Amino acid sequence: MLVLGIESSCDETAAAVVQDGKLLSNVIASQIKDHSAYGGVVPEIASRKHIEAISPVIAQAMTDAGLTLRNMEGISVTRGPGLVGSLLVGLSTAKALAYGLNIPFVGVNHLEGHIMASFLAEKKPQFPFAALVVSGGHTNVYLVKDYHEFQLLGQTRDDAAGEAFDKAAKLLDLGYPGGVVIDKMAKEGNPRAFDFPRAMKDSPDFSFSGLKTSLLTMFKKRGGHIGGEELPDVVASYQEAIIDVLVDKTLKAAGENNITQVVVCGGVAANSRLRMRFAEATARVGMELFIPPMVLCTDNAAMIAALGEIMLKNGRSDLLNLNAVSRWPLVSPSSSGEAKTGVCRC
Ligand code: KG4
Ligand code: ZN
Repeated sequence: MLVLGIESSCDETAAAVVQDGKLLSNVIASQIKDHSAYGGVVPEIASRKHIEAISPVIAQAMTDAGLTLRNMEGISVTRGPGLVGSLLVGLSTAKALAYGLNIPFVGVNHLEGHIMASFLAEKKPQFPFAALVVSGGHTNVYLVKDYHEFQLLGQTRDDAAGEAFDKAAKLLDLGYPGGVVIDKMAKEGNPRAFDFPRAMKDSPDFSFSGLKTSLLTMFKKRGGHIGGEELPDVVASYQEAIIDVLVDKTLKAAGENNITQVVVCGGVAANSRLRMRFAEATARVGMELFIPPMVLCTDNAAMIAALGEIMLKNGRSDLLNLNAVSRWPLVSPSSSGEAKTGVCRC
């Protein structure tokens, strides 16, 4: 089935074409330069930029695939979670195209899309597997039992790991987006130079706010400036503290559930040191690691098309009154907080 995927949940406008799980084109227009002066994504600017980019990006995805919109047999679009104004640009476009072309469309979950990115590689994971979704808005570990069937094993209690990267870069005035600049600078530093906290050691959940405060305290102690030769060491040590807990808790959660396959996905999974550390750690305990190529870790529409194709093939499609949702957890934690099992609406 030929499926057009559309993604516009945050600051990337993206379109991709997938056929039978194979990626035919993958176009991403980034808004980094539009938000960098503000040190973070400005929702109003993001919506406007999506409107400007969406049609050219879709046209480019068609050209790259050597196809036209008339060849498409279905459309998959991110419905949430994300910035509602941004989501609505992709969703309205998807609806208009589906109506005009008289083909089905489906609104999909962005987080599930990140997990599906691992299915676009040659070597695919097999159910059940553990998945760490680690991005600017989320740090969740799931037991993925089947398509659309998740059990939440751990989640952040405060900031997401990507936020911890972005906020540190903002404090240290390193540039935007934070994860990318820290990744690069950390290569010059010693990851063991400073001992930043690794929080909630005995819990399956994550917490990064103490780490952030610890960096802020260090920054204030030095009179509001960290620089010179010390800076790469601080950055490398800070990054290491984030990676340590991501690796430890993900592997622990997998081990406790007798899972031997681990998927790591989402924007932070593009981090070079994290990729290396996960590769080493999984090899050490005999687990198999699946990390999508870097371009499929950060936001993209290939993952959205891949997920949508599976749903459309199973007869799932949405009506034209479908709305965007800013919050959309993959699971519905029970009110008792015990069994965190649930099946998402798809
Ligand atoms: O998945 P994503 O593109 O958007 C969300 O769904 O949030 O993730 C964006 C996050 C940002 O916090 C960004 O700083 C982080 O991913 N990120 C990285 C790297 N590249 C992007 N973090 C660490 N190292 C990287 N190389
Ligand atoms: Zn994302």
